[in-house]
Amino acid sequence: MAASVREAGLALVDPTAYADDERFHAACALLRREDPVHRVDGPGYRPFWAITKHADVLEIERRHDLFLNAPRTLLMPQATEEQIAASGMALRTLVHMDDPDHRLQRAIAADWFRPAAMRRMEERIGVLARRYVDLMLEYGGACDFAADIAAHYPLYVIMSLLGLPESDFPRMLQLTQELFGGQDPERRRGETAEEQLTVLMDFFAYFKDLTGSRRANPTDDLASAIANAVVDGEPLNDFDTASYYTIIATAGHDTTSSTIAGGLHALMTYPDQLERLRADLGLMPLAVDEMIRWVTPVKEFMRTATADYELRGVRIARGDSVLLAYPSANRDEEVFTDPFTFDVGRTPNRHLAFGFGAHYCLGAALARMEARALFTELLPRLREIEPAGDPQWIETTFVGGLKHLPIRYKMR
Ligand code: HEM
Repeated sequence: MAASVREAGLALVDPTAYADDERFHAACALLRREDPVHRVDGPGYRPFWAITKHADVLEIERRHDLFLNAPRTLLMPQATEEQIAASGMALRTLVHMDDPDHRLQRAIAADWFRPAAMRRMEERIGVLARRYVDLMLEYGGACDFAADIAAHYPLYVIMSLLGLPESDFPRMLQLTQELFGGQDPERRRGETAEEQLTVLMDFFAYFKDLTGSRRANPTDDLASAIANAVVDGEPLNDFDTASYYTIIATAGHDTTSSTIAGGLHALMTYPDQLERLRADLGLMPLAVDEMIRWVTPVKEFMRTATADYELRGVRIARGDSVLLAYPSANRDEEVFTDPFTFDVGRTPNRHLAFGFGAHYCLGAALARMEARALFTELLPRLREIEPAGDPQWIETTFVGGLKHLPIRYKMR
């Protein structure tokens, strides 16, 4: 456990801390209490301000005119930042952009995630949820829920939306897990930044021919919408289309998989909440948002100040970076009653797991719908469930949650 505020701040740059819920949340609670705008100057990282209070994360997200997503979008070791810059492979996705490019490019995919589009997908997602719950039955009463079920179902949804062939899903799963798992010994591809860069190259190589083929033969999928988009009278260049496919393909499943695995783990850890939800499936929308708050799969995004700014009496200088610590904001005692209690009926639940404002998660409605469909299918069919080994969380400072959740169960 962090003994000092400095140690607590260093936990934010330590991927192993994120794989240990108790240690991580103790560090965040100390920061919220003692130094909510805390300067982290850890070895191997450029300094930044850790923003751990809900109100402050919200304030910075609101001021997107002053706090920009570029150039420092994510927390990375300085060596990795330099390696990526030198390679010319720095992704340029929605989360890396600011207005006006961001506004124009977000509009390309926005309609695909609005309520009307979601309604059209609802039935299909219900069918897929049933298929994956049936698969649990086929596993014969024991599986690694995170790796065998949760990792695959949202992948299937987003790949189908993009319009990629089912034979490529395993490849995309592996690439995404390597991309987000760059700090995890079990997931990363190689130890060095150079080796890890090859993951990005593989994404680009994979998507290389997609734009050409969708321009020649447009279909009714999201990849065609991106390939044929026109911004300021021009089609997107190859780099921007590849970045766009990459963010949809990656952000679109790992986050939701983590929510589903972490949600089931929470229900097993709090059996009273499992019974309460099973007895009243009408609570499902609230329960899903509580799972999302509880897991908070996206651990951080960063912003760069374009002018001096004062926050809680601390001067953030022009050019400084701030880290929005979403999991900390989502356990803020000033906003949530009993924040460390998992409550499937929690309302209100003003969590910031999807961010806020201009960059608010494009796939939030889809993620909610997928989680609702799966648990609505699963819970009535689940007679008994218990752990069959220790759960394991991924080591990452960015996106993640449970990578292994061994369970034993009886179903009908
Ligand atoms: C952005 C979280 C699922 C696509 C974001 C952001 C967060 C987030 C925190 C940044 C918001 C900000 O900066 O204010 C999550 C969580 C998910 C999830 C927790 C699941 C529970 C999805 C899904 C998609 C998706 C299913 C489907 C494509 C995106 C995109 C952005 C984004 C494209 C960039 C938006 C922009 O910068 O304008 N998400 N996400 N996400 N998310 Fe999600």
